Amino acid sequence: MPEIAFVNGEFMDLSDARVSVEDRGFQFGDGVYEVVRCYHGVPFALEEHLRRLERSASGIELGIPEETRRLGELAVEALRRSQIAEAVLYMQVTRGWAPRNHAFPEAAKPTVVITVRPAKPAPPDRAALGVSVITVPDERWLRCDIKSTDLLPNVMAKQKAVRAGAFEAVMIRDGAYVTEGASTNVFAVKDDAVYTAPEGPRILSGITRAIVLGLAREHGMPVVEEFFTPEFLARADEAFITSTTLEVVPCVRVDGRPMGDGRPGPLTHVLASAYSAEVTKRTA
Ligand code: PDD
Repeated sequence: MPEIAFVNGEFMDLSDARVSVEDRGFQFGDGVYEVVRCYHGVPFALEEHLRRLERSASGIELGIPEETRRLGELAVEALRRSQIAEAVLYMQVTRGWAPRNHAFPEAAKPTVVITVRPAKPAPPDRAALGVSVITVPDERWLRCDIKSTDLLPNVMAKQKAVRAGAFEAVMIRDGAYVTEGASTNVFAVKDDAVYTAPEGPRILSGITRAIVLGLAREHGMPVVEEFFTPEFLARADEAFITSTTLEVVPCVRVDGRPMGDGRPGPLTHVLASAYSAEVTKRTA
């Protein structure tokens, strides 16, 4: 099963893929990206990811080249060539190669990269035991809705979690309210209602988030898209995080203290199962 890359018009082995050291993605984090999970050779929610990539590109005034308009087809072709059934598809578009200068280059052509790698299977006890999270200050800019490759604050936050022996860092804006995780959206369950931060410039509008909220509504759970405090999260009946690669993961401890009864909650379990069923339905 070859790990495949597509770089500026050509498919190749991932180990042979190269971009310039003067690429603006490398020097400035001047690019946008998407991560798509593929199940038995079928990309899940590809259209939603491509639409978000277009929104991110337009958010940084990056004109989408013709090649990028065909990104969906190219991604499917990369996946086919890799023959990896359970894959993570990564797509990145940067402002391209140019001699270093902060302002946009006049004539650079966007760099388009796609990679396909095997998805890491989740540890079998993660769903049953849940994970720990810590809270950290949200030190990002105020366009978190743009899925930018410039992820330094997220990287720093995730590393704090790793050092603390936790799975995810939950970011707190202005010491006041929960926005999202370093690479996930964050949910609390209280009195059978599902709470999560609203869409807008303070969070990435997760594709998994949208699907899970739809499933919650289908299951008759009230959904509250409002900011909540770290104290609300700590006192929630249940909590969970979502992302393309993780799906729905129960959280059982925050900053070292048990949440709810310290075990994954029943509504989290319902939503995780409903999400798996949705994946099966859409990739059949
Ligand atoms: N991360 N919030 C942030 C900051 C993220 O980086 C991600 C995804 C999410 C969840 O979005 P989605 O459900 O669309 O994957 C929320 C990806 C997986 C990553 O950077 O690897």
